[in-house]
Amino acid sequence: MPLRNIVVLTDRPDRGRALAEAARPVANCRMAGPTDDWIGLNHVRGVIADLSLERTEAQRCLGVLSRRLDGRPLPMAYVMRTMRDGELKQAEKLGATACFPPHALPRTIVTGLFRQIAPEKTMTELLVEHSFDRAELLFTDMFRAGRRGRIDLAAADDEIDPILHAMEDGGLWRWLDLVQAHDDMTVRHCLLVAGLAAHFMLHLRLSIGDRRSFVRAALVHDVGKTKIPLEILLKPGALTAEEMKVMRAHAALGHEMLLASGMTDRLALAVTRHHHEMLDGSGYPDGLSGAAISDPVRLLTICDIYAALTEDRPYRAAMSQAKALEILRGMAPAKLELALVEAFAASLAGDGAVSQADNMALSGRINSANRGTARS
Ligand SMILES: [Fe+2]
Ligand SMILES: [Fe+2]
Repeated sequence: MPLRNIVVLTDRPDRGRALAEAARPVANCRMAGPTDDWIGLNHVRGVIADLSLERTEAQRCLGVLSRRLDGRPLPMAYVMRTMRDGELKQAEKLGATACFPPHALPRTIVTGLFRQIAPEKTMTELLVEHSFDRAELLFTDMFRAGRRGRIDLAAADDEIDPILHAMEDGGLWRWLDLVQAHDDMTVRHCLLVAGLAAHFMLHLRLSIGDRRSFVRAALVHDVGKTKIPLEILLKPGALTAEEMKVMRAHAALGHEMLLASGMTDRLALAVTRHHHEMLDGSGYPDGLSGAAISDPVRLLTICDIYAALTEDRPYRAAMSQAKALEILRGMAPAKLELALVEAFAASLAGDGAVSQADNMALSGRINSANRGTARS
């Protein structure tokens, strides 16, 4: 998917940085000064120009940029030094498609530019799409590296905050729509679980630190699948007992891969190893039961099962939300904790079906689990 690139062209580095910062949640941003040579300029969708019109540099520099873009006209937000008629006309002559007063807020300028670049989309949609584009590229790389044995955990961590921001902005359903369109099943599944986990933890009012941990865990929990032969992973029919054994190895394999890659986050390690454990001891790889399965693992397991049920899989079509919730409820209380399933359902409905007091109690349990009592 082509990334959305914009250029911030400025002769005031501080102001330029603020503009680039405001644009980063929705676009890849290249900051440039008047002497930039524009080497490696690709897929540019718009320009923010913050150049004094009193100097001839603005003219020269925008002329060079225009030649680099083969004269293709682009939306250009011009940050004026004054709003005098003469200057406005000059900016327009240089290609400005919108002019902003000198003290306009960076966010206002970015929003104005994107109203021209993508008038059909809201800023929330743009934010979710951009987070998804970044995460998609990163995870495609990460899983390729996973097949070779070692994954770049720092790069994965860079994707945590964009996903959290996308959810905070109310973008769960847009996120799920975008993710469902991805064709790599494992990447799609991890992004789906990450979005669901971020949304669920926001609903439970967990601290930002805990939410980061949950999203990190969700992103890497199935990394062991990169070691499973594709003919088993993508088999359209039921797996044989032997194939099932191979498939089930992904939990322990993922855990080993994370340790070998230097993962120290206990929650991510526990979730990766234990996200297929069930309260009645029927899960794998360690057959844990009851209290041996920590609260964070129980929560991620619910997100994981819901994601799997609502995805298209080679062996069956995606289920509706209602059907998936019915299955989750049917697994409680033997395999899953009913209160957690109901809290998850309420997070999807966004209807406050779980009271604030219940949420606080749940988040208290999770906080104490994260502080050092993770049992897995
Ligand atoms: Fe799994
Ligand atoms: Fe999974």
